[in-house]
Amino acid sequence: MREHGEVAGMLELRGIEAGYGEHIVLRDVSLTVQPGTVVAVLGPNGAGKTTLLRVASGLLRPSAGTVLLGGEDLTRARPYVRARRGLCHIPEGRGIYPALTVRENLVLHAHKGEETPALDRATSAFPVLGQKLRQPAGQLSGGQQQMLSLVRAYLTRPRLVLVDEASMGLAPVVVDQIFEFLGQIAGSGTALLIVEQYVSRALALADRVYLLNKGGVVFTGPPADIGDDLFMHYLGTAAGAHQAP
Ligand SMILES: Nc1ncnc2c1ncn2[C@@H]1O[C@H](COP(=O)(O)OP(=O)(O)O)[C@@H](O)[C@H]1O
Ligand SMILES: [Mg+2]
Repeated sequence: MREHGEVAGMLELRGIEAGYGEHIVLRDVSLTVQPGTVVAVLGPNGAGKTTLLRVASGLLRPSAGTVLLGGEDLTRARPYVRARRGLCHIPEGRGIYPALTVRENLVLHAHKGEETPALDRATSAFPVLGQKLRQPAGQLSGGQQQMLSLVRAYLTRPRLVLVDEASMGLAPVVVDQIFEFLGQIAGSGTALLIVEQYVSRALALADRVYLLNKGGVVFTGPPADIGDDLFMHYLGTAAGAHQAP
């Protein structure tokens, strides 16, 4: 039972085991995101970071363990139910529809009947998208497509946003914009769970870090507590060396 006065995590994963068919990826993973905080999940390729976000948003059902949102057990709830409870998942690879216009992409993710204010919020957060509402999303630059994907965080006023490798494949100047935007989302009081390859930038934003390796948590704590030895061991580089190119 919860101690008196303990705040319910925005998201709590407890003892999660999950995988694909016979292939178990996550083993006994527990993770908490407190309301309004930023948690970064780091780890080498194949560690299970994407799998962890999929379990959190309901795209993948765990074979063991519990998923709680705002203290409510939603382990068996479908993704749209979790979305209604304030969870927004921005998937690896952006998840936008290239043949649809920018406007159509945005409206898809807005709550019914709230499309106009949602579009206003999105385009004031990213004015460049407001100028391109009628263009097919596939014609946007890579950075603009990522912004279109991220701006979902403003459409439905989520309480928790999961972001998977937002800066993947983007030029450094665009990566700066992406992180500025993530900082803006966090600054508005929305909790963030981010998976990132740009370790130093993720650490600058994070209140807490989970280091994942081979499907298990090998470190958790505030960014300042990760020593260079851990970085070298699991990420193949020292903390200071993991700058964006
Ligand atoms: N759809 C899938 N079907 C089968 N195996 C998968 C699938 N997606 C990922 N995997 C495997 O699960 C493991 C973890 O993958 P993933 O969660 O994508 O890691 P990360 O995001 O940390 O790179 C890897 O071994 C990967 O090959
Ligand atoms: Mg991944």
